[in-house]
Amino acid sequence: MNLILLGMPGAGKGTQADFIKNKFHIPTISTGAILREVSNSNSLLAKKVRGFLDAGTLVPDEIIVEMLVQRLNEDDCKNGFILDGFPRNLDQAKALENAGIAINNVVFLKISESEIISRMSGRRVHLPSGRSYHIVHNPPKNEGRDDETGEELVLRNDDKPEVIKKRLEVYFQETEPLLDFFINSEIIFDEVDASKNVEDVSNEIFKILT
Ligand code: AP5
Repeated sequence: MNLILLGMPGAGKGTQADFIKNKFHIPTISTGAILREVSNSNSLLAKKVRGFLDAGTLVPDEIIVEMLVQRLNEDDCKNGFILDGFPRNLDQAKALENAGIAINNVVFLKISESEIISRMSGRRVHLPSGRSYHIVHNPPKNEGRDDETGEELVLRNDDKPEVIKKRLEVYFQETEPLLDFFINSEIIFDEVDASKNVEDVSNEIFKILT
């Protein structure tokens, strides 16, 4: 199963990727998580990447595409993978095709802009894994701690209101056109009502994928 999760920032891609990963035993590849790791590292790229993340704009394709293709060619992706956050524009979708990476399913998590704000303001994340929680809707077992590692959860730098606004603008301009691209492709495309609660959304996704 080579799956893409599409949706607005905060639609629940990371949350659902985790459920799918646990059920189907395939890895989640989150480009946002990869880039946050780079931005927190001591590498030459860190400062450059941090600038894009903090501004809410897309990291240039020449930085992310090669990283992503390399990651998808690793052994653990042989039986399938879940892409969370990639592709973000038409060129990235075409880069997957050019790299010979076939996609079977696209699941679009549909939600309104107004819901997004409340979701992001209550979000807490485990930066190393990308696992995300919500203080009300999807709380960790122990407050402020990741369920799997017990490590600290933090607020993301790009979850400030002005950056959220920019991320939404970028979504509508660059990412939303992918919906038509995938609908008109051979890939199986499904839409899920992502405004439902976490469990209902995952049940709906499981129905589609089994
Ligand atoms: P990225 O990390 O990919 O962020 P995003 O797409 O903006 O999506 P989010 O992670 O914010 O949200 P999500 O849909 O995963 O929602 P979540 O499950 O956390 O990208 C960040 C940045 O990296 C970009 O701005 C860009 O700069 C860069 N980047 C990444 N990929 C790139 C690429 N391919 N090319 C170039 N640049 C790239 O849920 C949100 C909250 O809601 C959580 O608190 C959660 O607990 C809660 N929640 C989830 N589901 C529900 C539900 N059903 N009901 C109630 N609450 C829920």
